Amino acid sequence: MRQPLVAGNWKMNGSVEEIKALLDGILAGMGDVKRAEVAVCPPAIYIPQVQSILQGGAVAWGGQDLSTHESGAYTGEIAGPMLKEFGCAYAIIGHSERRSYHAESDETVADKFEAALKYGLKPIFCIGETLEERESGVTEQVVARQIDAVINKLGVDALAKGVIAYEPVWAIGTGKTASPEQAQEVHAFIRGRIAKQSGDVAQKVRILYGGSMKPGNAAELLAKEDIDGGLIGGAALKAEDFLGICRAAN
Ligand code: 13P
Repeated sequence: MRQPLVAGNWKMNGSVEEIKALLDGILAGMGDVKRAEVAVCPPAIYIPQVQSILQGGAVAWGGQDLSTHESGAYTGEIAGPMLKEFGCAYAIIGHSERRSYHAESDETVADKFEAALKYGLKPIFCIGETLEERESGVTEQVVARQIDAVINKLGVDALAKGVIAYEPVWAIGTGKTASPEQAQEVHAFIRGRIAKQSGDVAQKVRILYGGSMKPGNAAELLAKEDIDGGLIGGAALKAEDFLGICRAAN
């Protein structure tokens, strides 16, 4: 049985004051969260603050990205050992916003997957098609290509050391959620593709859904066989909404 994971991707949002209030709210409601593992991914500069509030409790934290390098002349980058030093358990990699605004290729994302594992972080590996790709009927080819980049570089077993997040780009921040059936179809395809190489990894690996997930649609999505949690953007910025999704995994 895969334990559901609900992870908040705060993107470039928050302030010291807002983060304190948000985390206080989440911690106050964690008693009702029975099944899900919960994590938050703040902007990197706030990770020490998040660590000081969450240390020793039930909520984990992670970075939103990491460098493929360990240290050196890479202005603006954050390295895996730095995230690790501040207690991160996770690092999101390959988010569609990084793929599109920072031109991250499938190969770069595979390098980031490797870097995360090397420095003891669990990658939350994002994949997903654009609206144009969905409308041209190439969703499966796109997610297969994105997954295969990691399998080809690191082998299928590496996938079990991370988490996959299927985020259809057209559903991110648009209020347009994939229907539970649409999401399940792609999740099943992803698991099936992995199963061709390893049934064991396919059974183990958690596949999260991301894209306008909210308390109102979370239970239906999470009830689907191959949906093992959520990667939450907008709704992760309000304690009640985020907790509502965490409780939906009960
Ligand atoms: P929204 O929940 O705001 O659609 O964002 C999803 C997302 O991109 C999480 O990584």
